[in-house]
Amino acid sequence: MLVLCFGVQTGLVYSDVRSVPLSEEALAGRELWQGYACQTCHQLYGQGGFLGPDLTNAATRVDSTRLVSLLRVGSGQMPPLGFIDEEAAAMAAFLREIDRPEIGRGQLRLGTPGEGAGAQAAFERAIEASLGPEDADVAAGYAAWRMRPCSACHFPFRASPVGAPDLSLVSGSLAPDSLDRVLAEGRPAKGMPPPVPPLDAADRAAITAFLEFLGANREQLEAATQALAADRSLDWRALPWWEFP
Ligand code: HEC
Ligand code: HEC
Repeated sequence: MLVLCFGVQTGLVYSDVRSVPLSEEALAGRELWQGYACQTCHQLYGQGGFLGPDLTNAATRVDSTRLVSLLRVGSGQMPPLGFIDEEAAAMAAFLREIDRPEIGRGQLRLGTPGEGAGAQAAFERAIEASLGPEDADVAAGYAAWRMRPCSACHFPFRASPVGAPDLSLVSGSLAPDSLDRVLAEGRPAKGMPPPVPPLDAADRAAITAFLEFLGANREQLEAATQALAADRSLDWRALPWWEFP
C-alpha cells in the first residue's frame, strides 16, 4: 500500500504539467531570492515570513527605480543588500514572472496600511463603504466593537467554531434588555467573557445600533464581504512549483 502511494505521489509530482518555466533571467533572480533568503521576511502566494510585505504582486506595485533602490540601499527594516544593476534586473524579472493574478493575489498583511486580507478585513471594508454621514451612532458602535477583540470569536455572517453566534442575527432574536446585559457582563459561563475594556451605557447603545445596522443590511453586507474576499482568494491547484520546477 505504501509503495503504491509513493508511486502515485511521484507520478503526480513529475506530471505537474501546469508548472510554467521561468525565463533564464528570472531563474537567475530566483537564485538570488533563495541566496539572500528574501522569503524569511517576505511572502510569495502566502508562504514566507512577515517582517516585510507580501511580494506576490510586487511587480505591479513597485516601480523599477524603487526596486533598485530597495535592493541596493534598503529602507526601514529592509536591509541594504548592495545589488548591482544586473542582479536588480534579474530580481525584477523573477517578481514579474511569478506575478500571476489568474492564480491568486498576494495577501498583504503588512506594508500596505488599510488593505488587510481575509474575511474579517473584507467585512470591515464592506461596513466602512456602506456607512453614510447619517450613521454616526452606528459608526460609534463599529468603533467600540472594533477596538475590542469581539471579532476574535464572532465571525462575519456565520457561527464560529468556539460557539460564538453570528452577531448580525442578534438584533432580531434577543430582547433589548438581554442584549444589554450580555454587552455589560458577557456570558462567562457560556464562553463569552465580559468585554474589555468595559462597555459603558453609551458604548452599549452604540454597539446595539451597530448590531441593528448589521441585521437590517445583512444580505447586502454579506454579498459585499464575499465580493471583496473573493478578490483575494488563491487557487492552490494552479500554483506552479516555483521552488522546484
Ligand atoms: C530582514 C528582512 C528582509 C529581508 C531579508 C528582505 N526584505 Fe524586502 N522588505 C523588508 C521590509 C521590512 C520592507 C518594507 C520596507 C519599507 O517599505 O520601507 C521590505 C520591502 C521590500 C519591497 C517593497 C515592497 C512594497 O510593496 O513596497 C521589495 C520589492 C522587497 N522588499 C524585496 C526584497 C527582496 C527581493 C529581498 C531578497 C533579495 C528582500 N526584500 C529581503 C524586509 C526584508
Ligand atoms: C472569547 C470569545 C468571545 C469574545 C471575545 C466575544 N464573544 Fe460574544 N459570545 C461568545 C460566545 C461563545 C457566545 C455564545 C454564548 C451562549 O451560548 O450563550 C457569545 C454571545 C454573544 C452575544 C449574544 C448572542 C445571542 O444571540 O445570544 C452577543 C450580543 C455578543 N456575544 C457580543 C459580543 C461583543 C459585542 C463582543 C466584543 C465586545 C464579544 N461578544 C466578544 C464568545 C465571545
